[in-house]
Amino acid sequence: MEITLTGITTTGTPHLGNYVGAIRPAVRASREPGVESFYFLADYHALIKCDEPRRIERSRLEIAATWLACGLDPERVTFYRQTDIPEIPELTWLLTCVTAKGLMNRAHAYKAMLDKNAATGADPDSDVTAGLFMYPVLMAADILLFNAHQVPVGRDQIQHIEMARDIASSFNHLYGEHFVLPEAVVDENAAVLVGLDGRKMSKSYGNTIPLFEPEKALRKLIMRIKTNSLPPEAPKDPDTCTLFQIYQAFATSEESAAMRARYAQGIGWGEMKQILFEYLNSRLSEPRQRYRELLEKPDYVEQVLKQGAARAREYSAPFLQELRRAVGIRPLGG
Ligand code: TRP
Repeated sequence: MEITLTGITTTGTPHLGNYVGAIRPAVRASREPGVESFYFLADYHALIKCDEPRRIERSRLEIAATWLACGLDPERVTFYRQTDIPEIPELTWLLTCVTAKGLMNRAHAYKAMLDKNAATGADPDSDVTAGLFMYPVLMAADILLFNAHQVPVGRDQIQHIEMARDIASSFNHLYGEHFVLPEAVVDENAAVLVGLDGRKMSKSYGNTIPLFEPEKALRKLIMRIKTNSLPPEAPKDPDTCTLFQIYQAFATSEESAAMRARYAQGIGWGEMKQILFEYLNSRLSEPRQRYRELLEKPDYVEQVLKQGAARAREYSAPFLQELRRAVGIRPLGG
């Protein structure tokens, strides 16, 4: 069976943009017949970006609880934490030894840091940890350890999948055909949400609406969304309106069409904000309740993740033994 695998870096709290762009499509895809899915929390990757232990800990719980609350079925999907799979760091080293340093020099995230340092006149390596530099090798290990065929990712991650293919090819060339060459799957239909200020909703812009914000706070955030200054009766363009964009990402196509008609007739911003709040709140209140319950039961979430790791290791542990043998790490005389 073809394997689909993807990782979620555990920094921060999931927002509406993460939900419509990644969580919802991934949960739906995992329910399709004939796919075997591996979804994991990339908490080793999180350490590259964040050195606050509390935030790391909290984010792992919040993200695991979010995915479960949004309908991820851990019986159907192998759902685990990167840090529960000791074969991942071990494979990372085997891959590091067949990876050209020059390949890492070309990684966008690393190059962006060099550019930033050049712009400020800082030392080129300022704020560049070896972890940041080696990020793509760790990611290749995540993918290759399970011989994943498809890797659903955002556009910004395509280069990393190409690097994983390069690294897999180098290893296969030296030691035999052990790895499947993975392919990036970019969902062209996944909605990209706009944030409070009209730019793409993103943690780095500080314009997000957290997915499971309590009702009152959700209302407050929606009231803060930027709109233009047209009077209530003026016809309005839904396609340039943040309120409509968010509404549309949750609504059925009939509901969206009806809302478009209301925009054409003229709808007041205050009214639209209230409608959007009520609509979102009705959609989110059930999973939010489940989410709150899961946050109260970290031991249960821990156990779900441990079971996922045990299942993942049924594959990764014997496979890593094979890879060790392939490179010559085997019992002496054996
Ligand atoms: N780097 C990915 C991101 O930031 C997260 C990730 C880590 C990942 N390991 C992965 C995604 C393996 C897919 C496969 O989005």
